[in-house]
Amino acid sequence: MTGHGAAEPLTAEAAGPLRGVAEIPGDKSVSHRALILGALAVGETRITGLLESEDVIRTAAAMRAFGAEVERDGGTWVVHGVGVGGFREPEDVIDCGNAGTGVRLVMGAMATTPVAATFTGDASLRRRPMGRVLDPLALFGAQAVGRRGGLLPLTLVGAETALPVQYTLPVPSAQVKSAVLLAGLNAPGETVVIENEATRDHTERMLRGFGAEIAIEEAAEGRVIRLTGQPELVPQQVAVPRDPSSAAFPVAAALMVPGSELRVPQVAMNPTRAGLFDTLVEMGADIAFENRREEGGEPVADLVVRHGPLRGVEVPPERAVSMIDEYPVLAALAATAEGRTVMRGIGELRVKECDRIDAMARGLEACGIRVEEGEDWMIVEGRPGEVEGGATVATRLDHRIAMSFLCLGLATRKPVTVDDASPIATSFPGFVPLMRSLGARIGG
Ligand code: S3P
Repeated sequence: MTGHGAAEPLTAEAAGPLRGVAEIPGDKSVSHRALILGALAVGETRITGLLESEDVIRTAAAMRAFGAEVERDGGTWVVHGVGVGGFREPEDVIDCGNAGTGVRLVMGAMATTPVAATFTGDASLRRRPMGRVLDPLALFGAQAVGRRGGLLPLTLVGAETALPVQYTLPVPSAQVKSAVLLAGLNAPGETVVIENEATRDHTERMLRGFGAEIAIEEAAEGRVIRLTGQPELVPQQVAVPRDPSSAAFPVAAALMVPGSELRVPQVAMNPTRAGLFDTLVEMGADIAFENRREEGGEPVADLVVRHGPLRGVEVPPERAVSMIDEYPVLAALAATAEGRTVMRGIGELRVKECDRIDAMARGLEACGIRVEEGEDWMIVEGRPGEVEGGATVATRLDHRIAMSFLCLGLATRKPVTVDDASPIATSFPGFVPLMRSLGARIGG
């Protein structure tokens, strides 16, 4: 498990083009939510395409600890839920590993049920701010005792008599929004969340799918989401779409490595997640979006990606929210593009699995790339065909930093090593074998 075992260094080096079909695993955000809502519905929810990664397996274990039955039956995950308000008290500490989404959503889901639970995680998760969810959960009547600064480990005592809440998000965070909505499920009356920027909307879509009453309105103050509390959630068949944030890595690698051509089928194209693809098109990337359609309530497309010259761009700051997890791989790609790529409005990257602005800047500099950075921005000077590489980069328990530098190493003059590739298992366990099958040279 991440952060517990020995570090696993891995090296990527330039070889031939990447070619073939990249089958991407299930979406991490949707997978967490399917398990949690399945646990809050009475009866049997069946989930296909669930991402079987460390983060998601931790959430499955958390749902078992709160009393739901969660089993794998062939390729389908079966959840026997306990109903809204039906969580029992876990007997032991809930260890969410590396998963910020897991711990924040599960805390939300239990905050309005009168049980106590203690949460912890790996060294990365124990450094990440939990106050952003504990503040609104306190308005429902939940009480938390933890380390100074709202850090894990912490114990959350769910509200005895929950109150509904109206909350305006102080940071654009789908995790905070989702924690509030999940808490609102077991509060009487109407819980209202207002967001100034539209963050990923999987929770709203899925709540509606499970039969909750949820109304969304675009108002002057932003998106207003109203949830009617104490519904009876109806178990569902959930088909998890493929993760665009994972697809980003083979797509970026194909754009970087000369002669490459990849087909990436069935990628989720939810507009609250697809900002990277707009940016890549602006950079001049050769990407075709074929067979656009709806699957399991989410828009999807088959991507065909071909290598070609890219130019640096200025990414509009208002797009950050729809590609927040893709800046590490964009920064790696920008190193191979002509000119400067300017990324602003990305302060949230400092509180992800690691400080991603710092991790990318230091890693790219070690590979011979000029980077400028500030509190919430970063500028990368590209050197097409001339990225030096030849560095060992610290991945800081961050899967996306590890994968970004392994992709970059496929297009540098000298190999690039990541000091620890084990965090990749938190979101994309098959990443290295997949990349090798496409022609990448990645070795231990
Ligand atoms: C996620 C929301 C985002 C994202 C994370 C997954 C989610 O985090 O970075 O990988 O599933 O809700 P924030 O809510 O902190 O922006």
